[in-house]
Parts: sequence; structure tokens; C-alpha cells
Amino acid sequence: VSIVPGSLATLATIAREATRAHRYALITDDTVRGLLAAKALASFAPDDVTVLSVAPGEEHKTRETWARLTDALLAAGHGRDSAIIALGGGVIGDVAGFVAATYMRGVPVVQVPTTLLAMIDASIGGKTGVDTPMGKNLVGAFHRPAAVVIDPDVLASLPVPLLRAGFAEAIKHGVIADARYFDMVAGHVSRIAAPDGPPPAALHAVILGSVRIKAAVVREDEREGNLRHILNFGHTIGHAVEARSGFRLLHGEAVAIGMVLEARLAERIGVAATGTAAEVHRVVSAAGLPTAVPAGMEADAIIDTMHADKKSRRGELQFALPAEIGRMAGARTQWTVSVAAEEVRAILSR
Ligand SMILES: NC(=O)c1ccc[n+]([C@@H]2O[C@H](COP(=O)([O-])OP(=O)(O)OC[C@H]3O[C@@H](n4cnc5c(N)ncnc54)[C@H](O)[C@@H]3O)[C@@H](O)[C@H]2O)c1
Ligand SMILES: [Zn+2]
Repeated sequence: VSIVPGSLATLATIAREATRAHRYALITDDTVRGLLAAKALASFAPDDVTVLSVAPGEEHKTRETWARLTDALLAAGHGRDSAIIALGGGVIGDVAGFVAATYMRGVPVVQVPTTLLAMIDASIGGKTGVDTPMGKNLVGAFHRPAAVVIDPDVLASLPVPLLRAGFAEAIKHGVIADARYFDMVAGHVSRIAAPDGPPPAALHAVILGSVRIKAAVVREDEREGNLRHILNFGHTIGHAVEARSGFRLLHGEAVAIGMVLEARLAERIGVAATGTAAEVHRVVSAAGLPTAVPAGMEADAIIDTMHADKKSRRGELQFALPAEIGRMAGARTQWTVSVAAEEVRAILSR
């Protein structure tokens, strides 16, 4: 993983070293293509790269898009000596990564994330896949990237709500693993919406800190089973709220709400130190992220959605909960804490 301002312009060198490929397919979406493809392609010989673009949006993270991209690669004659370059947000990273995982039984992928969420979360850990009408991310594969190329300069064009949504995951990383990192992120959130955005050095430090935490968790998970579960903090309630909103809330916005409520839940059932929830609330709010369930969304509906989710059994729900800022509870129970649905209802109904 490299985090170097301006590195997009030297992509060919990094890709060649990491993949040893002779041909490349750059997969992107129509928005990112207009903004960044020229810079990303500048260092390649034009004949070495096929550019494939899909319409932007989660609704295109499908098997149909996977099939269309795969067919286009076959038609262009790409063989086993090809590599995929995924230039875009998490949607492109997931679908292009899945194309790479399956094309000719697997070719290398270079992830070039262009949203903050993709830089600090989606591009790290090797999960790829697509959505189906039955739910998100239900079909996919683990496929580790040959390289992850992060150029923080590309965030200059990212709309503020998407920058905020990325910061939600950075806050999460602080809560689950590192109190000092949490404080650092907290110190920068007030400038997310400033006219010139957070200072480049601050963004750089946030990306670096988050990548380190996520990479350490997924690496450790391979030895110590299930540490990955801690990454679900804020996501049990968050996913349900996101789904109940009809996906009008951004993922990061829903996770922000989920973190506030799950921290409160952790204090209520006595696993978190007093003050943990107030601290999470303070920073989420300072980031301009929502801290409460949208008006009109019923607690029962949210709980039903959580039960329907794969992470839960009847009558009780599984959570990744903090013990304090920087440390998670549940070390002896595979980092999941079982909570009676009644306790969850009490938090959601306040
Ligand atoms: N694989 C994983 O481990 C993992 C982890 C977290 C999330 N995800 C997935 O990531 C996806 C969400 O990612 P996302 O939030 O990046 O969404 P996204 O890929 O849809 O990008 C959001 C929007 O930003 C635009 N965009 C991207 N870069 C830009 C830039 N630099 N400037 C201006 N606009 C830009 C895109 O065109 C898109 O419209 C979800 O599908 C989620 O499931 C995967
Ligand atoms: Zn998330």
C-alpha cells in the first residue's frame, strides 16, 4: 500500500512492478473517468491499456456488470498476462476486484481508490464482490490486490458528504483500535466542510492511520480467528438503518448513527466505560454526521431488519462493542457480544 500525493501520474511504474503484467484493463466509472482517467493513463503506453467504464452507483455493482466487463476483456483478447486496474470508489474496487478474481481463474488487481472510504476501508483486505436482489455483497471472492495506490490529491474533487462518510470509518478505526488516532481524527473533523477542506497533511495522516489499523486487523485475523469482527462496530444497527432508509442514507452516515447507538448500548449493558458513548457522539456530531435514527423510522422495523441480517439469531443480536475508546469488548467471545433484543429496543426507542 502506497500513500503518495501525485502518485496517480506514475501508476504504470507501480503497476508493472507489482503485477509483471504485459497488458492492463483500467476499470472505472463514468464520473471518475472524466475526472481522473487522463492522469491515471498518462504513464502507460496507449496500446497497453483497455479502458472500461461503467455507470456510477451501487445499483451497478451487479453480476450483469461483472459479466459485461468480463465479456469486454475476452473480446479485447486479454489473457493471463493481463492485470486489472480498479480506479474509483468502493463500488469499482469491489466489482473490478471480482472481475480480476475470476478472469482466467484470477489475474492481479491494482486497487486505485478515489474516495476516502475506498482508501481506508474497501481497498484494504481483499474482499471483492457484487450485490444481488437478495442483498448486498452476497456473491464474491477474496482476492488480495497486488498493490494499493493511494493518491490523496484525488480527494480534491470528492463531494463533502462523501468525505464525511469516509471520516465515519476513520472514527470507527479509532474507537476499535487506537485512542490516540481517535483524538487525531477528532482534531481534524471540524475542517471537513471548510472551503479548502482539511489540510493535505491532516488527510494524509488520517489515511495512513486508518490503513494501518485496517491492515493490522485483517492480517491478525488470519492468525487469530475473528478479530475482523471488531470492524463491524456501528454496522449492526448501521446496516439496518441504511436498508430501512431505502439506501437514501450514505453508508458512512448510517454507520455514524450506528456507532452512536451501539456505544450507548455498550454502556447500557455494562461492557463500556462511562463516557465512551458521549465521546463517540461528540466526534460524530463534530464531523457533521447524523447521530440519531431518522424521524419516523420505527425501532421494531430496525430490529426486524437486524434479525433478517446474517449476523443475528432470534431473540438476541450480535454486536461488536467498545470497552472504551481504542479497545473493543468480547476478546473471549470472538469479539462479538450477544445482546437481548429488548436492550437494543430500549436504545432505539429513546
Ligand atoms: N471490499 C470491502 O472490504 C468494502 C469495505 C467497505 C465498503 N465496500 C463497498 O464500497 C462501496 C461504497 O464505496 P464508495 O463510498 O467509495 O462509493 P462509490 O464507489 O459509489 O463512490 C461514490 C461516488 O463518488 C464518485 N467518486 C469517486 N471518486 C471520486 C472523486 N475522487 N471525486 C469525485 N467523485 C468521485 C463515484 O463516481 C460515485 O458516484 C459499497 O459498495 C460497499 O459495499 C467494500
Ligand atoms: Zn462500513
